[in-house]
Amino acid sequence: MDGRQKDKPIMQTSRPTPYSLLVTHFARLLIPLLLLSACTLPTIPATMTATPVVDPFEQNQQLGRGINLGNTLEAPREGEWGLTIRDEYFPIIAKAGFDSVRIPIRWNAHAQMEPPYTIDSSFFARVDHVVAKALDAGLLVVINIHHYEEIMIDPPAHRERMLALWDQIASHYQDAPPEVIFEVLNEPNNRLTAGHWNELLAAAIEVIRVTNPTRNVMVGPANWYNVNWLADLELPEDEHIIVSVHYYDPFRFTHQGAEWVPGSDPWLGSTWTGEGGQTEAVERDLSLAASWGERNNRPINLGEFGAYSKADMASRVLWTHHVARTAEELGMSWAYWEFASGFGAYDPVAKQWRAELLGALIPE
Ligand code: GLC
Repeated sequence: MDGRQKDKPIMQTSRPTPYSLLVTHFARLLIPLLLLSACTLPTIPATMTATPVVDPFEQNQQLGRGINLGNTLEAPREGEWGLTIRDEYFPIIAKAGFDSVRIPIRWNAHAQMEPPYTIDSSFFARVDHVVAKALDAGLLVVINIHHYEEIMIDPPAHRERMLALWDQIASHYQDAPPEVIFEVLNEPNNRLTAGHWNELLAAAIEVIRVTNPTRNVMVGPANWYNVNWLADLELPEDEHIIVSVHYYDPFRFTHQGAEWVPGSDPWLGSTWTGEGGQTEAVERDLSLAASWGERNNRPINLGEFGAYSKADMASRVLWTHHVARTAEELGMSWAYWEFASGFGAYDPVAKQWRAELLGALIPE
């Protein structure tokens, strides 16, 4: 247990944006497809499904190099943690060479507490807009349930609500292109132990499959997606799964001075040079995930890794470079934590990338 918890400063509030370009995006994909099939086929097959099937291994390759839009829609209200997603971020991210974005979303803060646990329609509209902008920029998009802290404390009490959230999210995006990937729940921890989690993830996937029979779904192991807990992860017999892990080791280095990690101030000044077994430790840890993937025939994604801005830049760059390259060598897709906040590779005030960090993620 690394005992992570969140308590971030409140800054400003958000404003929802109206429903937009998601439909345009589908139409752009669908119209040429329909025209093409009209020319080449005598009739359009009655069985044609809205969402083409993409092999999870192939899609994991397409996820390639990604970045998390952290601290935005995972805040209790967008903007409260200092960053609001701007439309132009997506072309900026794509132009820098990234293939995908992961958008952490706190759906549970925008849904009723009682049945039927309805998700606020203006929040759906905001997520629609963000997802459409990402797709427009040519990026794959992972959307998840992030910071459902209540379920970590009392899993049975929140089971029904969590499944109701997935029922709504899955039906809402059932016609989205396959480039939209669902991730069941970020970093199960605390009382949501492996036993509870294996049962809950299977139930959530069953709910998702009602409306999205073949969309690729991401899940990670209990205990914060820690590679060592893959051994306890049990998956349903479902072909369309990508397994995700997170990596922040050495934790005292990556989380030094992190306001949401009690007791992390004494870690300030920890460096990472790669010496004294440090590079090997990264390789050993990530290899655990890769070999689990091989044994279980599942593609592996490294969905978060990053070092907080209170660590020195030289160490952050070395560590980030080594983790990203190791993941790539092991055939994993990855997503850096995160775009433009406390771990940010992009400076949203100066409106420019932090060149060293970007270079560590995407070398020339
Ligand atoms: C987890 C948390 C996120 C945090 C990150 C690094 O993803 O959910 O909010 O910033 O880890 O600690």
